[in-house]
Amino acid sequence: MRIILLGPPGAGKGTQSKELAGRLTLPHISTGDILRENVLAQTDLGKKAKDFMDKGELVPDKLVAKMLSERFAQPDIKSGFILDGYPRNLNQAKTLDGILSAKQMPVDLVVYLDTSDEVIIQRLTGRLVCSKCGANFHKTNMPPKIGSICDICAGKLYQRKDDLPETVKKRIEVYKNEASALIKYYKEKNILHTLSADGGANIVLREIIALSQNNS
Ligand code: AP5
Repeated sequence: MRIILLGPPGAGKGTQSKELAGRLTLPHISTGDILRENVLAQTDLGKKAKDFMDKGELVPDKLVAKMLSERFAQPDIKSGFILDGYPRNLNQAKTLDGILSAKQMPVDLVVYLDTSDEVIIQRLTGRLVCSKCGANFHKTNMPPKIGSICDICAGKLYQRKDDLPETVKKRIEVYKNEASALIKYYKEKNILHTLSADGGANIVLREIIALSQNNS
């Protein structure tokens, strides 16, 4: 099954993708995670992407397209995938179609996680991420059992630099500029399903699983 999770920053794309990937035994492809790994490893891509990411802007399409097509050249995607953080605009949606149609692997389902600005800000400014395994926590919504330590691997939790309030505002603005064209694009292909993602993570997960069962 080939699934895209769309939605604003903080909609829960990463949280839901990780859970879904485990349950459906599919690889989770997050362009944000791949970019952060490149920044950390100080690769050429990471050096080019860092400033855009710190400012809450999109990394140029050309750089992300190359990164994505390298990821889609890996054999694990043959069984399907959960794509999180891509596409972010119409140009990226068309690039993705090009990559997937060359492999005869059309997208089965696009889930749009509709989230209010209030919820986005509360989630992102309280998010904690594990520096070792990348698991997501939240200071109040999903607190770790012990202080700033990951429940899963005991790694140290940190706050993402782009989760500072000013950068969150910028990310929401960037998202809103591109979202409607993207939503229209997938609506016209008849593969878009919209869910309200303001509710609890378990409720949202149940709804996504039901959609995946109805569309497989
Ligand atoms: P990326 O990492 O993709 O960030 P994003 O899209 O802004 O999404 P987030 O990771 O912030 O949010 P999420 O929806 O995954 O929410 P999460 O599950 O973590 O991208 C970062 C940057 O990389 C971009 O700004 C850009 O610069 C660059 N980039 C990435 N992709 C790109 C592309 N395609 N093109 C160009 N540039 C690109 O949840 C957030 C918090 O809420 C967590 O604390 C979680 O515990 C909590 N939470 C989640 N769901 C719930 C719930 N239902 N109830 C309560 N709490 C919840």
